[in-house]
Amino acid sequence: MEKRKIIVTSALPYANGALHLGHLVEYLQTDFWVRYQRMMGHDCVYVCADDTHGTPVMIRARKEGITPEALIARSYEARVREFGAFEMGFDRYGSTNCEENRILSEQIYLRLRERGLISSRQVDQLYCEHCGMFLPDRFVKGVCPKCGAPDRDGDNCSVCGATYNPSDLREPHCAICGATPVMRQSEQLFVELEPCRDFLKGWLPTHTDKGTADKLLEWFGEPLRGWNISRDAPYFGFKIPGYDDKYFYVWLDAPVGYMATLWAWAKARGQTLEDWWQDPKAEIYHFIGKDIVRFHCLFWPAELQAAGWRTPTQVFVHGFLMVNGAKMSKSEGTFISAATYLKHLPAQALRFYYACKLNGTVDDMNLDLRDFVGRVNSDLVGKITNLASRGAQMLNKNCGGRLGAMDPDSRALLAECRAQLPELQEAYERRDFCRAMVIVREWADKANQLFDAKMPWRLVKEDPEATRAVLTGTLNLFRLMAIALKPILPAYAAKVEALFGEAPYAFADAARDLEGRAIAPYERLADRIDPKAVEAMVAETKAQAAPALPKGITEKDVKAGLRQLAQAPAGNAFPPPRQETIAIDDFAKVDLRVAQVLAAEAVEGSDKLIRLTLDAGEPRPRTVFAGIRKAYAPESLPGRQVILVANLAPRKMRFGLSEGMVLAAEDADGTLRLAQPFAPMTPGARLR
Ligand code: MSP
Ligand code: ZN
Repeated sequence: MEKRKIIVTSALPYANGALHLGHLVEYLQTDFWVRYQRMMGHDCVYVCADDTHGTPVMIRARKEGITPEALIARSYEARVREFGAFEMGFDRYGSTNCEENRILSEQIYLRLRERGLISSRQVDQLYCEHCGMFLPDRFVKGVCPKCGAPDRDGDNCSVCGATYNPSDLREPHCAICGATPVMRQSEQLFVELEPCRDFLKGWLPTHTDKGTADKLLEWFGEPLRGWNISRDAPYFGFKIPGYDDKYFYVWLDAPVGYMATLWAWAKARGQTLEDWWQDPKAEIYHFIGKDIVRFHCLFWPAELQAAGWRTPTQVFVHGFLMVNGAKMSKSEGTFISAATYLKHLPAQALRFYYACKLNGTVDDMNLDLRDFVGRVNSDLVGKITNLASRGAQMLNKNCGGRLGAMDPDSRALLAECRAQLPELQEAYERRDFCRAMVIVREWADKANQLFDAKMPWRLVKEDPEATRAVLTGTLNLFRLMAIALKPILPAYAAKVEALFGEAPYAFADAARDLEGRAIAPYERLADRIDPKAVEAMVAETKAQAAPALPKGITEKDVKAGLRQLAQAPAGNAFPPPRQETIAIDDFAKVDLRVAQVLAAEAVEGSDKLIRLTLDAGEPRPRTVFAGIRKAYAPESLPGRQVILVANLAPRKMRFGLSEGMVLAAEDADGTLRLAQPFAPMTPGARLR
């Protein structure tokens, strides 16, 4: 068989965000495939990197008072450690914020420019004058134009599911400071895709799965829209050559990060990027999730082609992780981070379970936590690992730790299993890890049947040599399983190599019998999972979710409240005070609600303000700053009820964001009194 030269990438995780079990669906399956290719004896290089640029990193760094570079350095370290714990086998894990990436991004852009594929247009965008920046969709909040739910994202409503433009939001406000943004024009640069139409139309059907290609081809009925690749300052990213205050949009330089990381890796071993990327014999594969196909199957190949670089051999698209049959959810405790998982459970258990579930299609993958415990305990530990622990320990105890020659039945079964190796390898090749695991489990079932039929624990009393033959068979069968499992369980396989005193396994080693030699003492290979550890992991994840709810309010109440809010007539901006009369409709615009004071504290640096934490019947308590210090001691307030102007636009104050206002009246003598309901009411009750 000819040695293949293979380049593999996983999508670059955002530096601004912790790794979670959803991400691992991608990273683990890529790792399985890469390790399989290496075990087949191919030259397979696997690169990945942190995706560092963009507004979210900039904003978060600003909030923390550190530089974006410091922020991405910190998150890089955490991620590399977590990937290490999950036994990832990258050849290089880099960062998009590196010199190689800047050089390549500029080069690709300039080549596109030379080919006339870059155009420039004036574009209207929401701009926050307070923050001095254009707001990306995620940084605009407002009232959903469709269902009226407050505090929705700039591009979609998670209450009613509508999608829209940020400019369609009612009462739009800046998610950073709360100010009302304005429309402003600026020049933006676009990569034109229409000239790439014929190329893409030919490329798509042969370089990704049919479902993905068909979906993307639906857009080819009309002219392909250009893709905006520029962002205005302030932005964390690479400056666009020829402009002072424009940066490449993060998605321009992110995929270039694949090449940049490969380049850095090649340089370190005295080679060039071209030695790999441009080698016509080399194959290039991208593993990605279904949410980012547009970037990888339209923009990326178009750019590469136009800039004179090779396009990928194939883009492998996978689905999303579901947990217990539903979308990952913070409040259900199923939005589990890699770090939290590792605190409670062994990495190899997740690797094994994902392998059992992944079949190389775009279908979503379900992690059922009970099934997870069952699969690991009954299959990995009960069926497979037990063969080794019983076989090796019995051999060490009763047969001097020396393998003999296999008994004929074991030899026959081993031959039967080996005959399935090509089928197992094909399953790996087409990323049908699930099928590969079925084959290994079938081997384990047969090996266990044989073990039980031979009853070595009884045989050992009568015929130690016959026992040695049986155990030699058992351990050879187990060894075959360990080789077949090595792409999934590399650390496990390394312990098996040590047990048998062998060099690191490749698939070629499966053809050899292991006879007439000593084995090492048995070292534990896998442990059963205690369901309590899973419960603890879920509980911890739940606790990380939103701050605790007010006493007596359950998650159910919150959901009901959200639905109610969605149906409630939408409020409008608080009208400026006027001396003139108003219509009843004007008054109805003011959303007045009963709220309960959960906490109150004096604001340091102000002699007037008290910071109130209010339960206004919403999922999240509100913070309101009130100038009532002269009339109330903070400790006298918790438990009291107040009247909240709930739809007042949030206001950024020196001390924090004030999300509304409480009503108070001032007497002629200057006495200040908070307004309150005549009798206690349910927080959130509306005044009319
Ligand atoms: N930074 C971009 C990718 C740039 S590639 C040049 C990005 N980052 S991400 O962190 O949001 O996602 C990284 C990968 O993980 C993506 O392929 C994404 O599809 C995948 N997943 C993120 N959440 C996932 C699930 N819940 N389930 C399965 N895969 C998921 O996108
Ligand atoms: Zn702002």
